[in-house]
Amino acid sequence: MIMEEIWPPYAVTITSGELSMRVVRDDDLPELVDLVLSGIHDPDRMPFSFPWTDVDPAELPANFVRYHWQVRSQLSPARFSLEFAVRQAGEMVGIQGFSAQDFAVTRTGETGSWLARRFHGRGIGTRMRRAICAFLFDELGATEITSGAFTDNPASKAVSRKVGYRPNGTQRLARRGTVGVIERLVLAPEDFVRGDEPVQVTGARPLRSFLKVDR
Ligand SMILES: CC(C)(COP(=O)(O)OP(=O)(O)OC[C@H]1O[C@@H](n2cnc3c(N)ncnc32)[C@H](O)[C@@H]1OP(=O)(O)O)[C@@H](O)C(=O)NCCC(=O)NCCS
Repeated sequence: MIMEEIWPPYAVTITSGELSMRVVRDDDLPELVDLVLSGIHDPDRMPFSFPWTDVDPAELPANFVRYHWQVRSQLSPARFSLEFAVRQAGEMVGIQGFSAQDFAVTRTGETGSWLARRFHGRGIGTRMRRAICAFLFDELGATEITSGAFTDNPASKAVSRKVGYRPNGTQRLARRGTVGVIERLVLAPEDFVRGDEPVQVTGARPLRSFLKVDR
């Protein structure tokens, strides 16, 4: 057997214009670590609810691959994260993720993403969010998709707004020792703003079987 048959998440590719996304493999990790070390957000503001970038830079590379190996080893129909390595015109730019529990029943889950800072503000974040939402609605049969952003993360909130997410309450979290407010967001299929760039997906069928999801 080949790896794509053994591990169906590896068979999935999502493309939209010059953007391509596939589940992170070991070969992708060095490029992704370089992006993380180059900086993915303003160090003065923590955009993540789990502050994984707030560590000694010497520990980040091993922590990063440990996280991705953990995601891979724990992926099951009951609980999974699909972490897509995102390339723009062949160049690695960041990660677009989706996490869910009991997805075959709940049909919901949460998106999360990051790009290296040098790729911010070029529309890539919007394109990759649209691509994952198209994949989730059209190929995995999601009935809603959630997201969240700290109030001081205008770029993430702008992406969600452009893609059609609606406000869905707030959540207070401890962030660097003080309270941070997350604006919760939810996207319904009828609100999804797809944009002009069509999204193509291959390999969804074996993934659906693997995750025990009927469309
Ligand atoms: C969030 C993120 C993925 C967005 O990607 P991106 O490629 O920069 O996003 P886009 O270029 O597609 O869109 C950004 C939008 O934010 C807007 N924006 C950016 N900074 C802004 C600011 N300070 N005030 C208001 N709007 C702002 C841009 O104007 C743009 O909207 P527009 O197209 O309507 O003009 C990227 O900024 C990132 O990786 N940030 C660090 C990690 C992070 O915050 N992840 C999300 C955690 S919830």
